[in-house]
Amino acid sequence: MRKMDNMALIKVAALPDLPENSVLEVSIGDDLYALCNVGGTITALTGVCLHQGGPLGQGNVVDGRVVCPWHAWEFDCRTGANTEDPSECVATFPVKVEGDNILLQVP
Ligand code: FES
Repeated sequence: MRKMDNMALIKVAALPDLPENSVLEVSIGDDLYALCNVGGTITALTGVCLHQGGPLGQGNVVDGRVVCPWHAWEFDCRTGANTEDPSECVATFPVKVEGDNILLQVP
């Protein structure tokens, strides 16, 4: 987890938009992110699959993993690790929930 001091958090979604065990695609500028809700815990990954660039935020969450809608590669919602090869990871980003707001910290 990256240090969050002195860094801006950006509101990207409202909590009711992200039911448990689902994923939501959000964008900041040109960058896509996949917000995941795993049993009430909100996490964020890059929205771009490392296989062929599929939209992870348009996939599904199954057993704590986001499943890419293009060829079903799976990534752990917390660590970003690929299920088949954990040495292959998509980037993760810190998330904060304040009331009904989901805030994302990006570089
Ligand atoms: S682009 Fe994601 S599995 Fe192929």
